[in-house]
Amino acid sequence: MKVLIVGSGGREHALAHYFSSQNKVTEVLVCPGNAGIALTAKTRCFREICYSATDIIRLIRASGGVSFAIIGPEEPLSSGLVDALQAADIPVVGPSQQAAQLESSKIFAKEMMLSAGVPTAAYQKFTSIASAQGFIDESTWKNGWVIKADALAAGKGVLVCVDKSSAKQGISQLMGGAHLGKSIDKILIEERLIGREVSAFYLCLGEQYLHLGNACDYKRLNDGDYGPNTGGMGAYTPVSWLEQSDQSALEQRVVIPILQAMEKRGTPFAGFLFVGAMINAEGAKVLEFNVRLGDPEAQCLLPLANEHLLTALQAVATHDRLGFLQQRGRAILQRESCAVHVVCAATGYPGTDGSILRLGDPIEVTGFLAEQCQLTYAGVRSEGGRLLTNGGRVAGVTGLAVTQEQARKFAYEGVEKICFADKITRTDIAKYRG
Ligand code: AMP
Ligand code: GLY
Repeated sequence: MKVLIVGSGGREHALAHYFSSQNKVTEVLVCPGNAGIALTAKTRCFREICYSATDIIRLIRASGGVSFAIIGPEEPLSSGLVDALQAADIPVVGPSQQAAQLESSKIFAKEMMLSAGVPTAAYQKFTSIASAQGFIDESTWKNGWVIKADALAAGKGVLVCVDKSSAKQGISQLMGGAHLGKSIDKILIEERLIGREVSAFYLCLGEQYLHLGNACDYKRLNDGDYGPNTGGMGAYTPVSWLEQSDQSALEQRVVIPILQAMEKRGTPFAGFLFVGAMINAEGAKVLEFNVRLGDPEAQCLLPLANEHLLTALQAVATHDRLGFLQQRGRAILQRESCAVHVVCAATGYPGTDGSILRLGDPIEVTGFLAEQCQLTYAGVRSEGGRLLTNGGRVAGVTGLAVTQEQARKFAYEGVEKICFADKITRTDIAKYRG
């Protein structure tokens, strides 16, 4: 088999590691990939090819075809890359542009949840600053308000506010352009939920789904969940605190009804469904859907995946219900295994306060990483045969073991060996509320 991955971050490196570890896979192509991913066995990166469907189709034809393509990030999914590849008869894992609206429009996602009876926070949508602020003035929600841009905003379009004045200020900053650097014409305001967050991952084909696993990520930059929101500074799997009753509620009350509603609407969902949920005494409520694997959650889940994932991915890409069904009931992740992933970021990340990102420092890996570690690269480039930092999240190490404590130890021992100037890591991944 030959597989093509679209994307260039740690999640895509974890995908490359997974495919490269599979005997059936002979070659892994990555568009655009990065200089660190290119070091993976069987893997070739095409740095000049980014998300252009024309270029990707040309590359696939020139390399004699691929068994399937798999798209990592949200932008190419929301701009219709899956539809373009399918129109060129290329099997692909990922949702159509229509189905990707579950992530690319938060209002669409809320309306689907409402019509399918999926538990989620109460909300209202607004298109003007005055009406949104007027709503806050009259609102009686006790725990606060969450202001969300309707469209994709690279994880920066959500403001969690506990008092009315910051909610009103958030509305004017988001809609007026001061927050994202461009004005936002559609927002929604949600009731703030209290509880613990979990990310649950399903591989879906129409109304069929396989539960891959659950993970928790650490979004804040600093220990103790302080500092600005980031793309994610670390993660762990499995999530031992999640009760079986909440797990089954996620399937029965969220996944099954939403997949049915998407099918009924004529926009069936295929690909990874990532359910971000808040768990509290009242049960599970959906915070968001993403239509892809999470980054860095994928770096925890994929090293634990066995060969059944490959068969299931191929079945989804070729819309082979039978092949997909055959995977049901088979665990995709190794049972009794834990994974902890810790991100190494560059100084200045995430830059939302205007800090300048420090780039161009040499990265050295001192000594050998234990075999219980998997190293993934994200924001890197190569120059003169050396790897240099070239982005906010530079690299990450996943530790794998039978217990979370041991996995955490391996991850941090690995992180010690990844050296670059002013490296930033959280020291409490899988410990703080872990
Ligand atoms: P989203 O992109 O919708 O997941 O929002 C990003 C983050 O904002 C989530 O992971 C939560 O930490 C937080 N968040 C979103 N919606 C809510 C809500 N209704 N209540 C509390 N926190 C929320
Ligand atoms: N780690 C959260 C995300 O990928 O959106």
